[in-house]
Amino acid sequence: MNDEVFAAVAADAAERLVAHWRALAAAELPVVPSGPPGTTLKALPEQAPEKGEDLAEILDDTWRTIVPQLVHWQHPGFLGWFPTNNSPASVLAELVTAGLGVQGMMWSSSPGATELEQRVCDWLARALALPQRFQHASGQGGGVIQDSASSAVLVAVVAALNRASVGRWRAHGTEGRYRVYCTAQTNSSVPKAVRIAGAGEAVQVPLLPGTHEMDPAALAARMDADRSAGLIPAAVVATVGTTTTCATDPVPEIGAVCQERGVWLHVDAAYAGSAALCPEFRDGNAGLGHADSYAVNAHKWMRTGIPCDVLWVADHTALTDAVGLTASYLRNPASESRTVVDFKDWQVPLGRPMRALKLWYVMRAHGLEGLREAIRHDVSLAVLLARLIEAEGGFEVVVHRLGLVVFRRDTDARTRDLVERLTRDPVVLCTPATVDGRPVLRAALGSPYTDEAAVHRIWSTIRSHAAAQD
Ligand SMILES: Cc1ncc(COP(=O)(O)O)c(C=O)c1O
Repeated sequence: MNDEVFAAVAADAAERLVAHWRALAAAELPVVPSGPPGTTLKALPEQAPEKGEDLAEILDDTWRTIVPQLVHWQHPGFLGWFPTNNSPASVLAELVTAGLGVQGMMWSSSPGATELEQRVCDWLARALALPQRFQHASGQGGGVIQDSASSAVLVAVVAALNRASVGRWRAHGTEGRYRVYCTAQTNSSVPKAVRIAGAGEAVQVPLLPGTHEMDPAALAARMDADRSAGLIPAAVVATVGTTTTCATDPVPEIGAVCQERGVWLHVDAAYAGSAALCPEFRDGNAGLGHADSYAVNAHKWMRTGIPCDVLWVADHTALTDAVGLTASYLRNPASESRTVVDFKDWQVPLGRPMRALKLWYVMRAHGLEGLREAIRHDVSLAVLLARLIEAEGGFEVVVHRLGLVVFRRDTDARTRDLVERLTRDPVVLCTPATVDGRPVLRAALGSPYTDEAAVHRIWSTIRSHAAAQD
């Protein structure tokens, strides 16, 4: 393949993407595919080709075979899970990142990639009004781009275990003695990280009565009881914006409990953290002065394609002491001078792409004003949807926070049936969940193409399914 072929096919790919985005914006495509399981497998040959094929043909096949079997997360009717939204600036940055093809595991393996990441993480920390100590500029803390909130909490838990054991964890593992606390509302990535870190099952702290938030007094009591039993409380994971209902744990009180006991506090703000770009949505920042680490998925609600999670730590040596390793083939004078950042020691994998270019493009192309406008736009659409639902008999809004509206029908049987009907609907995708033992539907606004007209279209679709039930 020569360079001209690449340039021509890349231009074609860009045109196809623009046409695809326009078709999504016009809701000309279904939000979910209709093919049964195995449709794509059947369309693909069982063997890899022996001889190289034309890139133009491969691109054609992408649209013919793969695209029709995708769930379109950027579709205006996509209200599932939490958004994983995107923008042309992000897509362009991904192309340039891939084309430059650098590996940024250490400062010396690509100085510009590392320093760009330091700068962009500090930019974002300031834009979100996070405590100053999370910035690289503070000298002690800093941000690092991870692939996911799951990876962020994993390294935070590992750093916490290492700190709680004064390094013993590195030599002996957890010996069944260390405890990590969260709640039943915490995202599943957290208990998974605790298992992977070797600390067994995360302890589920009771909720404040009538809420979906951690009870700080119950947390303190549980930690003290564990300590009396010879166990070592190592970390607490609090959430700003839980996945099911966007609830926020009382971080200031939890932080005080952690501080008194010298326990690491990680705050998972994977979804709701982006809202802090807007001063009026910064409630979730309260109490972060006590947090040891904080993570937000730019790839959820910041027009930055997946993967892009930013993890900030107040003391980067806690991370590097836990996961830093330098084999002989990684040694270099810059690292030994201790004046540079080696992001390999802030994450699980050794290698890493240039992760920051995407966020840099997005922050520059949209400006903080543009990113705030997008958040406010999505929140206003959620307000509209919640009003439409509330005004309708036989429906109830269970929770409405930021861009998330959780609702149900008047009976659980009708809610379950509505879930079933919507599963096959080409116009709207909501995800089902259970709140306080009852079935609900979650509608998370955040697709870049959802506008007021789309919300009215979505709502009339949901209503017509409901009408067909009665
Ligand atoms: C609150 C919260 N934390 C963590 C995660 C996991 O994010 P990731 O897929 O980036 O690991 C999610 C995903 O939706 C989430 O809602």
